[in-house]
Amino acid sequence: MTGTSRRIAVFGAGYIGLVTGACFAELGHRVVVRDIQPERIRLLNSGEIPFFEPGLGDLIARNKERLSFTLDVQEAVSEAEVVFVCVDTPPTASGDADLSRVWAVIDAVRDASHLVAIVVKSTVPVGTGARVRAALDERGLTHVGYASNPEFTAEGRAVEDFLHPDRVVIGTSDGDKAAAWVTALYKPLDSPIELMDVASAEMVKLASNALLATRITFINEIATVCEATGADIGHVSRAVGLDHRLGPHFLKAGLGYGGSCFPKDSRALRAMASNSGYPFQLLNAVIQVNELQPRRAVQRLKAELNGLKGRRIALLGMTFKPATDDMREAPSTTLAARLLAEGATVTCWDPMAPHTTAHQDPWSSTTRHPDPLSALTDADAAILVTEWPELTDIDWPTAARTMRTPLFLDGRNLLDPTTLLAAGFTHMGVGRTTRR
Ligand code: UGA
Repeated sequence: MTGTSRRIAVFGAGYIGLVTGACFAELGHRVVVRDIQPERIRLLNSGEIPFFEPGLGDLIARNKERLSFTLDVQEAVSEAEVVFVCVDTPPTASGDADLSRVWAVIDAVRDASHLVAIVVKSTVPVGTGARVRAALDERGLTHVGYASNPEFTAEGRAVEDFLHPDRVVIGTSDGDKAAAWVTALYKPLDSPIELMDVASAEMVKLASNALLATRITFINEIATVCEATGADIGHVSRAVGLDHRLGPHFLKAGLGYGGSCFPKDSRALRAMASNSGYPFQLLNAVIQVNELQPRRAVQRLKAELNGLKGRRIALLGMTFKPATDDMREAPSTTLAARLLAEGATVTCWDPMAPHTTAHQDPWSSTTRHPDPLSALTDADAAILVTEWPELTDIDWPTAARTMRTPLFLDGRNLLDPTTLLAAGFTHMGVGRTTRR
């Protein structure tokens, strides 16, 4: 099948769905992306991308002959050979994944008996595929294959990750024709393809995200011990990462992991384990420690400034990481809320956070500035929250003079402490001793 142009329907025009659709179009397939949000489809049909993702706009524009967007289920499915389910699975109050959008897609394609297969990319609890399979069988769709094909792309580099994956995971039942079909789609990417059963494929996704979240949390706790003992996390992370058994990635200490995936998926795995009778103690600790990270930063400033009431604190960066406009579960939101609760005034700057945040809690009680220097003016302290590259180019001596108290907490260890010290700052890093 390699080299054959296929007809694919993608349900969900979020990060995963749009990147999947655009990348399959780039590989020569004909793709229809369907979403339930009229505004999203309108934007896409007028050539706009509903969120920022490097390279995605160009990719979509380049492949517009093979890529279309619709609200209409029939339009998406009638010609398709395979349906990719890429809808979101947000957390419920108990931490379980809300699968209603996945089931809505399965219901929407109930009459599509011409399909070769349904492929789920959405992150789902282990056992979901088996339940979908049973539902398809019940509806007389026994001949329609089923595959779990989790996605490992990271925001900000999703196109690159999709086209050059470390591995592709495909989970199917024995003898399911979806295995060969989906494998053929990924063949041109020339990456390892791991074939397995559906439950294992579902688990690979949850385990990968939980292990990455655990690594970050582990290094964050080492950083806290470094602060207490005088060691420097920069040296520690680098040298630990040189052990080939450990590797250098995801050892950057910071203000805790955020985003739409790690917090949600680790809670979902914890809930899933607990629902199956196993309390996942390590993951529980990871989740709790991560929630404390931004609070700890606030406590450090509070101690340094002898209280935060009436203090003006500048937050440099709002998005959960650079190269994205995504604010979901961003540590900045907890920081802003905690600082306000302590009686501080909060100013902020971010080059890409959506301006709609100005109407949302806690940001509606903060003042957003168009550039870092104006956010720093008259501030008693600054926290570098997101490691935007723009922040390395600031005139720091001027910044120090514009602040009321030149106290700088570099929450991502982005800047060279000697530069800040020379500029007149008191410098605090994460996992580094405070220096004056
Ligand atoms: C993450 C995974 O990296 C992807 O493999 C996965 O496909 C995706 O979730 C998903 O499940 O869809 P993403 O959430 O886009 O991707 O972001 P990451 O780059 O992994 O960063 C997550 C958080 O960890 C950020 O808040 C980041 O600042 C933090 N982080 C990351 C650290 O604090 N330290 C590090 O060393 C690395």
